[in-house]
Amino acid sequence: MADLSIKIGHTTFKNPIFVASGTFGYGTDNPELVDVSNIGAIVTKSITLNPREGNPPPRIVETPSGMINSIGLANIGVEKYISELLPIYEVMDTPIIMNIAGSSITEYIDVMKKVEAVSSNIVGYEINISCPNVKEGGMEFGVDCEMTEKLTRELRNFTDRLLIMKLSPNVTDITAIAKSSENGGADAVSAINTVVGMSIDHKTKKSNIYTTYGGLSGPAIKPVGLACVHKVFNAVKIPIIGIGGMVSSHDVIEYILAGSCAVQIGTANYRDPGIAEKILNDLNDYLDEQNLNSITSLIGAVKTYV
Ligand code: FUM
Repeated sequence: MADLSIKIGHTTFKNPIFVASGTFGYGTDNPELVDVSNIGAIVTKSITLNPREGNPPPRIVETPSGMINSIGLANIGVEKYISELLPIYEVMDTPIIMNIAGSSITEYIDVMKKVEAVSSNIVGYEINISCPNVKEGGMEFGVDCEMTEKLTRELRNFTDRLLIMKLSPNVTDITAIAKSSENGGADAVSAINTVVGMSIDHKTKKSNIYTTYGGLSGPAIKPVGLACVHKVFNAVKIPIIGIGGMVSSHDVIEYILAGSCAVQIGTANYRDPGIAEKILNDLNDYLDEQNLNSITSLIGAVKTYV
């Protein structure tokens, strides 16, 4: 069997198939449906300083080959994350990456400081600078190079754990934001968060989303994700965690060829919470068929014409 392990910063993961923030709850919801110990890592739902109700409904709608969400970062807040979830993670045999969101640099720092102040086995943080669905913070950071670098540098001061900046595709040049993350001291970037989209009901003439716009995810955005990962791969030296519309091991291989060293399965979890495990098995079969000993030789190996 091929070696599926990958290294990001100083952390080694048993395989490159992670599940994406916001699509797998806090990783504790469906123990009967999926053996999470087989997953490379769980990226937990965005956590803010205080609990949030999120946006009013409707906040999810299915679209051709995808869905639009505008959840508005609904979450339990950092205090509950620490008291209720960290003890569960201690006994789970799966690396946990905590996704943090904030409306100011201080909020991101405060959340991280609270988690760093207690003992826990989480392996790192994914910093959400790319949520398109909130008025303050969210994508505001991820569209601005200076703010991205400043936030990354500030957070770097407070943790030796993995620091991953989650990038938005809704920018003129994603490579500039990736470089700012690298300059600020990030260990990796994850790309992409959702693509701003809109859905209208032609019969009622109403928007299908309360906030009018939301974030498009699912297979519809896979080509956008691949292009972003490949551009970032050519621009930075830090590893890239690919995200966007993967539903099969073939999709995963394409993301790895584009330059990802690991991937996050997102929207597909809604259809089948066990899909990450299935993709992992198929990936193993693919590597065996190709007589490949390790997955790392495929990273960025796409053959382009120019
Ligand atoms: O609306 C939301 O909570 C979405 C978050 C995100 O896309 O990062």
